[in-house]
Amino acid sequence: MGAYAESYRRSIEDPEGFWLQQADAIDWFTRPRSAHSTEPAGSGDVDRWFADGVLNTSYNALDRHVIGGRGEQPALIFHSEVTGRRRSFSYADLLERVGKLGGALTALGVGKGDGVVIYLPMIPEAVIAMLACARIGAVHSVVFGGFAPAELAKRIDDAQPVVIISAAYGLEADRVIAYKPMLDTALELSEHQPRHCVIVPRNDHADAPVVEMSEPRDLDLAALMRDARIEPAVPVEVAATDPLYILYTSGTTGKPKGIVRDNGGHAVALSYAMRSIFDVGPGEVMFTASDVGWVVGHSFIAYAPLLVGATTVLYEGKPVSALRQAQDTAGGQAQDAGAFWRVVAEHGVRVLFTAPTAIRAIRKVDPDGEAIAASDLSTLQTLFLAGERLDPDTYRWADDQLGVPVVDHWWQTETGWPIVANLRGLEPMPIKPGSSTVPVPGYQVAILDEHGTPVPVGAEGAICLRRPLPPGTLTGVWGDPQRFVTGYLETYPGYYLTGDGGYLDDDGYLFVMGRTDDVINVAGHRLSTGQLEAVLATHPAVAECAVIGVADPLKGQLPRGLVVIKSGVEIDHDQLRDELVALVRQEIGAIASLRRIDAVPALPKTRSGKVLRKTMREIADGQHTQVPSTIEDPSVIDGLRPILTQ
Ligand code: COA
Ligand code: AMP
Repeated sequence: MGAYAESYRRSIEDPEGFWLQQADAIDWFTRPRSAHSTEPAGSGDVDRWFADGVLNTSYNALDRHVIGGRGEQPALIFHSEVTGRRRSFSYADLLERVGKLGGALTALGVGKGDGVVIYLPMIPEAVIAMLACARIGAVHSVVFGGFAPAELAKRIDDAQPVVIISAAYGLEADRVIAYKPMLDTALELSEHQPRHCVIVPRNDHADAPVVEMSEPRDLDLAALMRDARIEPAVPVEVAATDPLYILYTSGTTGKPKGIVRDNGGHAVALSYAMRSIFDVGPGEVMFTASDVGWVVGHSFIAYAPLLVGATTVLYEGKPVSALRQAQDTAGGQAQDAGAFWRVVAEHGVRVLFTAPTAIRAIRKVDPDGEAIAASDLSTLQTLFLAGERLDPDTYRWADDQLGVPVVDHWWQTETGWPIVANLRGLEPMPIKPGSSTVPVPGYQVAILDEHGTPVPVGAEGAICLRRPLPPGTLTGVWGDPQRFVTGYLETYPGYYLTGDGGYLDDDGYLFVMGRTDDVINVAGHRLSTGQLEAVLATHPAVAECAVIGVADPLKGQLPRGLVVIKSGVEIDHDQLRDELVALVRQEIGAIASLRRIDAVPALPKTRSGKVLRKTMREIADGQHTQVPSTIEDPSVIDGLRPILTQ
């Protein structure tokens, strides 16, 4: 039996033995004696891991490496493509900063179990703040910087933070994003008010905005870090099952779900993933090009590389940027698609992890891979891609150009680490384009039909995970235990519903075909069509609306809106579209990328009033579609065809 088959078998037949062995990779204050247990939650029960274990995640990410002699090794390299700045933090440096910020948070009244919202761009303070919370047992909730104040306000009200950590500004390729005013607006919208806001000052851009501080609430991080009265925090003891963080993700409704992650299962699972999947160990460099606001950033920028004593690269910038001071031959701004490859060459990156969209963006500008050929990529062992479906065409291009294995792997915010992958560190397996390969040890993947019965090999169905879910996966939905049960566990008793559809082939390879619910995936960013619809519906001219995700060659999917104007309302369609686009940017953020909105006479519905989004999406994507027999008025869909296929 191969190493993969043997590990997989053990993980399922003897989960206690398997996971207690993996737990040895972590330093515990109290070593767990048992691995799995369950706990009542809402109307059901949920899985718990290492319930009798006691540890500290920041100790595992920092102190033990310094104690073990890695103090001078780079822990975090900050590489800003936007400003051209580079900065390296050794493990000893990072520990000092994390300890000091932890001490400052303690002095501000943050204690074990208290909430801290982190609203920061891609700067080192984001990782430092996360680890500082972990050090003192506070529960962080990082909010992606691309979200507008209204979304931030929703998360503040849900997470109830004692302190919010934000920055003066962030840098997008073409503009300065003034974070502090957005935070102020969010706090005008939220009911909950934090005791303090700690603001990271920045002074690395000519257009740096002036920051208005509101005393005594707002405090300058640099001043706090200089304050000699603040004692560095020691790592506090937390139960393995205590929450480490909350990360909000889109569900099918407008209300984001606060996915809760524990300390112990998370540390064990991520350490295991680094060894068995990513094959990155102490002293090796991992570059995850994502954002700390997403789960990919939480797991593979901030936590996992540090848990195993590796070096993580924190990258500020896009995969493709406008070349400074350069014009292309057509008189436009020349594009630079070499940024990622320069990072690899400059820092000796072993593993690069990004979303397929980033590769498509690079390919568009550099189809022949000239920038790849011009870089020394000799250290690169593997390109990992996740966050959205990896189309075979993009896979082949990356494979041809890079000459290293291109590994698709499938997972989600809720699981926190890969469900299905090619386990490069355990036993590399043949790659099949379009498949994310095989279930990772600990995960039991099942494809079920609508009655909850497993379908035959090769048949498509709902991808579910048979319980127990392995360590590191969500422990609940913040403040709403029933939502975990209702949203994920109730549909098929004994299984967790992933929300994705797909099939397994004869070799046990999984092919993920897309979401089966109203979640869409735009440039690797997860959005809820329900959330977009809720914003469109607030416009006074809109009677009804629907948002669907349609295929896009760059971003994978793009949202598209259809609105029915209230009878008697006279409004120019272009004006309405512009107002709706602006409304979505204002309420959700630019990240929603909703630009295409059409006014239509009616929406197609079933006789029970359900809008036929799937049918509209299939028509827009040019797929063969069977209009459900339950449609109320078939002429509505016929009338929409020319608009949808435009
Ligand atoms: N703060 C503020 N605004 C942000 C932001 C942030 N952190 N991130 C994105 N935005 C804005 C962008 O500036 C853009 O605004 P615009 O509409 O005014 O141009 C908008 O949100 C959409 O952003 P994005 O989807 O990133 O599109 P883009 O056209 O700027 O870039 C790609 C396209 C493909 C280069 C980019 O999406 C990318 O790098 N994708 C990689 C995917 C990824 O990292 N996914 C994370 C999960 S793994
Ligand atoms: P998020 O929670 O933001 O990470 O988004 C998770 C969702 O993105 C999954 O449920 C899938 O729909 C999609 N996704 C992530 N990775 C992949 C992948 N490798 N292949 C197909 N879809 C993916």
